[in-house]
Amino acid sequence: MTTIDTRPLRTLVHTAGAPEGEWWRDAVIYQVYPRSFADASGDGIGDLPGVTSRLDHLAELGVDAVWLSPFYRSPQADAGYDVADYRDVDPLFGTLADFDEMLERAHRLGLRVIVDLVPNHTSDEHVWFQAALAAGPGSPERARYLFREGRGVDGTEPPNNWQSIFGGPAWTRTTDPDGTPGEWYLHLFDSRQPDLDWEHPEVRSEFEDVLRFWLDRGVDGFRIDVAHGMVKAPGLPDWDGHVSMIEGNEDAGDVEAVDSVSGAGNQGPMFDQDGVHDIYRAWHRVLAEYPGDRALVAEAWVEPLSRLSRYVRPDEMQQAFNFAFLATHWDAPALRTVVEASYRASDAVGAPTTWVLSNHDVVRHASRLGLAEPGSRPNGIGHGDEQPDEALGLRRARCASLLMLGLPGSAYLYQGEELGLPDHTSLDDDLRQDPAFFRTGGAERGRDGCRVPLPWASDAEGFGFSPTGVTWLPQPAEWASYALDAQRGVPGSTYETYRSALQLRRESALGSGGMEWLHGLGDDVIAFVNRDVLVVANLGPTPIALPAGAELLLASTDPTVGDDGAVHVPSDVTVWARYTV
Ligand code: GLC
Repeated sequence: MTTIDTRPLRTLVHTAGAPEGEWWRDAVIYQVYPRSFADASGDGIGDLPGVTSRLDHLAELGVDAVWLSPFYRSPQADAGYDVADYRDVDPLFGTLADFDEMLERAHRLGLRVIVDLVPNHTSDEHVWFQAALAAGPGSPERARYLFREGRGVDGTEPPNNWQSIFGGPAWTRTTDPDGTPGEWYLHLFDSRQPDLDWEHPEVRSEFEDVLRFWLDRGVDGFRIDVAHGMVKAPGLPDWDGHVSMIEGNEDAGDVEAVDSVSGAGNQGPMFDQDGVHDIYRAWHRVLAEYPGDRALVAEAWVEPLSRLSRYVRPDEMQQAFNFAFLATHWDAPALRTVVEASYRASDAVGAPTTWVLSNHDVVRHASRLGLAEPGSRPNGIGHGDEQPDEALGLRRARCASLLMLGLPGSAYLYQGEELGLPDHTSLDDDLRQDPAFFRTGGAERGRDGCRVPLPWASDAEGFGFSPTGVTWLPQPAEWASYALDAQRGVPGSTYETYRSALQLRRESALGSGGMEWLHGLGDDVIAFVNRDVLVVANLGPTPIALPAGAELLLASTDPTVGDDGAVHVPSDVTVWARYTV
């Protein structure tokens, strides 16, 4: 007698344990944005002692590591991404001793610590830039930056037509010591963030030294800011393309061609030049001198994914944020394509994929996904703009997060997403601080909405962010219900759902697992098996029944039980189920 195999068809996309070993391959890494995490001093701005005081929360949540955005000496023209001294802590955030204490406490709790390195540009208050201004044209001091003569009569036109990512021209003209207009300098971001010239040997040796400074203190790795920007095309040629922080990925194309997945890219002569890889090969060697699998993670908004994977070749960085995934709209076929293409690209070089849904530069996914066209405003939402549907956004955010955490690879969480936090989407423009808002004349609302101080305690002034109740940006009153103390111990809360997911992910070794698509559940459904866990995300309108033999483990929102007794996954819900069929 022939038995008919009724098991749904599967397709292997990524093999379990391939390759394995180093901690960062499957780590869940939590981004701390220091000014908005926790404030110990009471000035309304978060600080390092505040981080230390809340590390228990991260250990309890169950993450493996913490990445801290910059806390170095800085005039804060771009919230610390304008560094004036790479070897010191800004008094706003504390002292080097506070850093050491934080690091020691994190390590005692079993948490690794990654710090942010900003090598594309310095602050205009960095000693090198101050010296360059003072020394004048043709000086060795100017050679560390990109100073050029202007074009046109008397050099009144910028040296080329590049635009700043924050809006406006990417060049600012200097004034010579005698008061006459002088050379121009390049800044891909704000005018207070002059770009370094990475052809200069002193720039290279200085940053290797900075790496060693922090490695010697014991950090486990670095997140490399604008990792695709340091080398520019020779001659700085004009370019008519458009640069922006992020574009939505509406058209995910054909999975056979990894190169068809787009949407997270910055192209042009200022980005993703081949020469940048020499820098990472050198840095790889520096990290390799230290014990304990130290890691570099690239913030590289490049496309297509095959270009991104070049940053994580075996002798370069360890991870690169997968922004193509973040930029993909709420659409099951597009997400399937990007997930599969991501494995193809990273497996080809033996690197892990590095999933991420939110960070300090984009609208939080709880808000992005609550818009009529999900993801349509990644660069900021303000009053007067369409306001997200908060409940729908949260439901989808939880669905997206469980989908992400079920995938093998490393995953990054942005502080507050474990609380289901939305952006502040109606922030008063008068309170905005992001240079992107000012440089675009308000056309882009900017990133302040995702940087609002965290709510820890629902009844406290400033929701327990600081002992005085002061917060550098106002928190919406509705955030009381998102506060940690309102969710801790409450079954089904976003916080407890994240905690359960991280625990199950660890127990079932999902981070180092494999991925096989499970077919047959419909086009609107993303279904895959990772080890013995089936992950089903239903993005369509109709509930779908889990296949026979699937035993429910966790759901992003309550599933239902059909007349047939089977578990049904409703719209915008992800479930994890034990599945050994
Ligand atoms: C990166 C940072 C962003 C910063 C920019 C300039 O994209 O994540 O916050 O504004 O670089 O340093």
